[in-house]
Amino acid sequence: MNAPIEGFSKLSKEEKIHWIAHNFTEQPKKTEQLLKRYWNIDGEVQKIHDEFIENTLSNYYLPFAIAPNFLINGAFYALPMVIEESSVVAAASKAAKFWLSRGGFKAEVLSTEKVGQVHFVFKGDTSKLFHFFTDIQETLHRSVEPITRNMEKRGGGLKKIELRDKTGDIEQYFQLHCTFETLDAMGANFINSCLEQLASTLKESANAYFGFNETEKSIEVVMSILSNYVPNCLVKAEVSCPVEMLNEDGMPPEEFATKMIQAVQIAKVDPHRAVTHNKGVMNGIDAVVLATGNDFRAVEAGIHAYAAKGGSYSSLTHASIKEGIFHFWIEVPLALGTVGGLTSLHPLVKLALEILQHPRAKQLMQITAVAGLAQNFAALRSLVTTGIQKGHMKMHLLNILNQIGANDMEKKELIQFFKERTVSNSTVKEALENLRS
Ligand code: MEV
Repeated sequence: MNAPIEGFSKLSKEEKIHWIAHNFTEQPKKTEQLLKRYWNIDGEVQKIHDEFIENTLSNYYLPFAIAPNFLINGAFYALPMVIEESSVVAAASKAAKFWLSRGGFKAEVLSTEKVGQVHFVFKGDTSKLFHFFTDIQETLHRSVEPITRNMEKRGGGLKKIELRDKTGDIEQYFQLHCTFETLDAMGANFINSCLEQLASTLKESANAYFGFNETEKSIEVVMSILSNYVPNCLVKAEVSCPVEMLNEDGMPPEEFATKMIQAVQIAKVDPHRAVTHNKGVMNGIDAVVLATGNDFRAVEAGIHAYAAKGGSYSSLTHASIKEGIFHFWIEVPLALGTVGGLTSLHPLVKLALEILQHPRAKQLMQITAVAGLAQNFAALRSLVTTGIQKGHMKMHLLNILNQIGANDMEKKELIQFFKERTVSNSTVKEALENLRS
């Protein structure tokens, strides 16, 4: 029981399932059945999923949904969203509808620069290193040409290499800080391949450099890797309308606008609130990022670092009233791709991109930023008016009903019953008991 295993990855899928079921679960037969129930009946589709990662046993489903009616830069979009949280898609759709009659969303890509670094140790005279770097700039660029050629033909590639002296932070530590344009690709593999080539050219060139002594010749590369912090791969999305058009939710428009601005101000100054505020933004961003097969961990890490760029974690969204116009906007770094990676492999990702009318990476950046802004608007709108639980628990009702084993008829009756009542675990349980008795 629970002993280590040699060569697990070499077992067949059936053998892996058998091993895990019999060694780690209480009801092995049930475990086996459950894992197999989630296999795709289409063997080809299943094979694609099996091969994404190592040791695949089954699939882990998340809902794939659509939030319709997004007017973005004058064009209509239905946003594919992959997320498990009950109220998110409903909130996005509500925000889209709200802004549909108020001019829709505007979005603009501000920059598209990606970053990668070669981190290395140099034990010697720093001024000689800078000299050496100037001498080998061309060699460095030339060494990556076989990798960058195709990207360059389309206008992308390695744009700049800087030598950065980081010895103020760590003794003898330097970087090649490189910037890239990767067009419609997220570009992780492209960037990492370039960086590894730059690292080896750096080492070889130092070794052969006439101006270095023996110690200086042996540069030690620590690692070469892209950075998911992309503050110059930035997109802005915004909405605006005259304050008097914010006439919703039974609250006077001026009061609503003021409260929205106060809510954003609080998230700007208080990290406890900022984290939750931005979590709401990420409900929208992650859902679109996942649906379109992009790397949500990279996006999350980069966005949160950006939210802390002023030295304290702060709101990703902004709000103001100027000359009677309410403005609400977001600026976020988003390194997204619409080619490469999962985009041509995962059938639902392909579909999501088709639903979005085959966007270029820049358009996907705009759409995704809009999803984040819409989600934040919807959350703040509820928070400053009715409170979040009313809508949230309404959407959560079905989850509770499923948890307590309500059948279809009972679900129908109770959804009707709770239209005008407060949803909570205990009220739903009680209502089901009453219905049954
Ligand atoms: C819940 O998923 C997200 C919210 O907490 C966001 C917020 O508080 O702004 C509602």
